[in-house]
Amino acid sequence: MTTSRGTTRYDAVLVANGHHWDPRWPDPAIPGSLDGTVMHAHAYETPDIFAGKHVVVLGMGNSAMDIAVESSYVAASTTLCSRRGAWVIPKYIFGRPLDTIVTDARIPFRIRRKIAESLVSLAVGDLTRYGLPAPDHRIGSAHPTISGRILDRFGHGAITYRPMIEKLEGDHVRFVDGSRVRCDVLVYCTGYKVTFPFFDAGFVQAKDNDLPLFRRVFHPDIAGLFFVGLLQPLGAIMPLAQAQGEWIADYLVGRYALPDEAAMRRDIEHERAEMFERYVASPRHTMQVDYDDYLYALAIERRLGEKRAKLGRSSIGPSSAA
Ligand SMILES: NC(=O)c1ccc[n+]([C@@H]2O[C@H](COP(=O)([O-])OP(=O)(O)OC[C@H]3O[C@@H](n4cnc5c(N)ncnc54)[C@H](OP(=O)(O)O)[C@@H]3O)[C@@H](O)[C@H]2O)c1
Repeated sequence: MTTSRGTTRYDAVLVANGHHWDPRWPDPAIPGSLDGTVMHAHAYETPDIFAGKHVVVLGMGNSAMDIAVESSYVAASTTLCSRRGAWVIPKYIFGRPLDTIVTDARIPFRIRRKIAESLVSLAVGDLTRYGLPAPDHRIGSAHPTISGRILDRFGHGAITYRPMIEKLEGDHVRFVDGSRVRCDVLVYCTGYKVTFPFFDAGFVQAKDNDLPLFRRVFHPDIAGLFFVGLLQPLGAIMPLAQAQGEWIADYLVGRYALPDEAAMRRDIEHERAEMFERYVASPRHTMQVDYDDYLYALAIERRLGEKRAKLGRSSIGPSSAA
């Protein structure tokens, strides 16, 4: 491997460069141009840039929620717009973070989903009453949009909703429903690209954010190349990255052996088929995992791999638990 310090031979390379740092701008770009500021959420630091301004925020993810809320306290007007609706999930239900209530991997997903939908419906009610569009998908089919504050700001009239932007028109933005609002600052909260700028183009790339890996860690074609934290959990990422690190360490010291190649590829395909069937098609949904399910399945796979390592062969297939 060649780095800025020269070329060295390594047995293993662990890639842990994160996947929320390379801004994804709308592509194709939205037609027209704006006289004011056009920025991506990645460049946002403090709300003072919005003071007294007319602000438009595009997106329905967590960046859009947080930035629209902060803008709503200081801007002359704040408009949130999006190409689809989302379930807006409160941070707490019964005084507990929702992701600690209904996540047990031993409960079938369809039951967990039903419970989550009932709880969120009870806590939030009909989103159209706040002026937001109804979600076009069931809960758990999109990365969760979590905000304890946005609905309150809608209720106060401090934020208004519009559908997708059609055109930028100087000091105004036009939406697909024909309405227009004044706009001094447009914030694209349109997510991030998965990129590896330190690799040669053509070595490893995640086209449209998609990089198939065995349990989101092992590259199926390149031995010795591992990825840590290259997944989008419903839940916290750090404990998953820690489990991945321990798993890689087991492999490197010979305590864990991979399944044979065909089994590994079948596992990857199975995981991807399930994910793409469940989630709304979007570049933000290419590496989704459920927190508890991922840890549970990984623990089983590590036990199987330990047996394979003891037998000195790769004959025990990967677990299909997930
Ligand atoms: N408070 C927090 O914990 C917090 C705050 C900010 C961010 N985060 C995390 O940071 C990560 C990134 O969040 P994010 O909100 O920046 O990005 P994100 O989750 O990828 O959301 C991007 C949003 O932009 C929309 N979008 C993308 N391209 C578009 C286009 N060309 N035209 C119209 N809409 C477009 C997406 O819609 P589609 O669904 O239709 O693709 C989606 O609503 C997530 O893991 C998030 O949970 C957490």
